[in-house]
Amino acid sequence: MARIAYVDGRYLPITAASVSIEDRGFQFADSIYEVLKRINGRLIDADRHLARLRRSLGELQIAQPCSEAALLRIVQETLARNALKDALIYIQVSRGAAPRNHPFPASTRPTLVVTVRRLSLPSQLEREQGAGVVTAPDQRWGRCDIKSTGLLPNVLAKQEAQQAGAREAWLVSGEGTEAVVTEGSSTNAWIVDAAGVLRTHPATPAILGGVTRSVVLELARAEGIAVEERAFTLGELAKAREAFLTSATSLVLPVTRIDGRPVANGMPGETTRRLMACYAERCGLPAHR
Ligand code: PDD
Repeated sequence: MARIAYVDGRYLPITAASVSIEDRGFQFADSIYEVLKRINGRLIDADRHLARLRRSLGELQIAQPCSEAALLRIVQETLARNALKDALIYIQVSRGAAPRNHPFPASTRPTLVVTVRRLSLPSQLEREQGAGVVTAPDQRWGRCDIKSTGLLPNVLAKQEAQQAGAREAWLVSGEGTEAVVTEGSSTNAWIVDAAGVLRTHPATPAILGGVTRSVVLELARAEGIAVEERAFTLGELAKAREAFLTSATSLVLPVTRIDGRPVANGMPGETTRRLMACYAERCGLPAHR
């Protein structure tokens, strides 16, 4: 069955769906996006994803393409037309199409695209053994809190990770052991530090405030785990007891190798496993998967 996409009011086979070559998303990356998931027919944390979408649009002064209720109906219709139960949902909104010129055009309609595909979660093997990450310089702009499609530094870092046989690149700002880990190229970064405190970078413009990050912070606090939104350095990372990453599609995933060296004993840690189970439960997934 051909995949069906939603583009500006129409549902079309993905091969026939297109936007203008003068779309500002294409020319300037003047656009934002969201990625969320549906598991067993249920959208997970849709309210938080829609709130972040609204915020990203607001920060860039891009008009809402439609009401949130209408957007949810489009998402549901796209899912239905693709007959998918468990799915990854991609929403992109650009400022619209106009003759190429840097300032905002006086009147354009935002372009809305929705695509869905089969949800692919980390394998059982990867969840049991943990993932490898490499560290790479954070070469991004100063507003990483906006979920913009301007992702070239993220793409380059992810490519570097893939070429090194790792799942993810953790982006590092600064020099030497005092350099700080901001986040992953498409995930948030966490450690349990040498003192046993769960740490992740605070939600500043230096990172994307992940929806999974916000949920995991709440779950950790509810579990009575000591947690601080405080950046960790490469020096602290080298001494970490545990490490993991989070995103809508990676869930909570242990990180057991960093730049080829094992994290602690090289196996997923206890706090990580607890949070994996809590997050899985919230998504309606079996705790052991
Ligand atoms: N990535 N940090 C960055 C830079 C991201 O791109 C993402 C999401 C996250 C995690 O956010 P969340 O928990 O809301 O998924 C953190 C998406 C999935 C992507 O680009 O495909």
